[in-house]
Amino acid sequence: MDPRPIGVFDSGLGGLTALTELRRLMPEENIVYFGDTGRLPYGEKTLPQLRCMAGQDLSLIASYGVKAILVACGTLSSNTPDLLDGFSVPSFGVLRPSIETMARIPGEGPLGILATAATIRSGAFERALRAACPGREIIPVPCPELVPLIESGHADPTDPLLLDAAERYTAPLRGASAVLLGCTHYGIVEEALRAFLDKDTVLVSAAACGARAVRDYLEAEELRGGEGRETFLVSGEPGRFAELAALLLGRSIADRVRQVPVMRIEP
Ligand code: DGL
Repeated sequence: MDPRPIGVFDSGLGGLTALTELRRLMPEENIVYFGDTGRLPYGEKTLPQLRCMAGQDLSLIASYGVKAILVACGTLSSNTPDLLDGFSVPSFGVLRPSIETMARIPGEGPLGILATAATIRSGAFERALRAACPGREIIPVPCPELVPLIESGHADPTDPLLLDAAERYTAPLRGASAVLLGCTHYGIVEEALRAFLDKDTVLVSAAACGARAVRDYLEAEELRGGEGRETFLVSGEPGRFAELAALLLGRSIADRVRQVPVMRIEP
């Protein structure tokens, strides 16, 4: 039994989709969550900026004495895998477990990847999926509008702006066997995305895949244990995060959110 917390971080609300899956799998674990809301969206940042932020985020979450880290962010998982692999605390991204899951889905149709502009630009998910599923058609789609919409409160499945974006981004994916939600924010708007996809297209959540990878690691190393505590850290305004997070989680976290300082990233 190891009661040290699991560290989870993302640019903002997206990683809460991973936290939800972690909670479902391991209700007893203590979790420290960091949402870098003062510097999002990550999907619009350059590679040097992402490397800088990944290093800072890893150090920040590690300073809370965590036993493992889930980088609940497709953008960092795809752009900075070397930083995750080389970090002093065991750190898991969402890329590898997502590809393993996608490769197991039966069917002959194309495989889609919905992700941020920086993730698609890195080519990391596409390369890994091509290697795992040779000969299969892969369709990567950057969705630059989704994270800003979600973080500004346009996450309701009937929201006209959200539905308009969802329809455009999913248009190339009709007939797909499976579509990877390669950005952890997209699980929040899964219903809007699903509305425009074929009924039998399987949606794979990168966030859930990452959460399962952490569970597998903790089990294999016999590191499970805790009292179900949660701490939420944000670099932006805590009240706004708490409000939107409560809608997603279906419970209030207002008394557990606090602001932490982060460095300004040079443009
Ligand atoms: N949720 C993150 C991801 O999975 C970052 C999104 C963003 O800030 O652009 O890519």
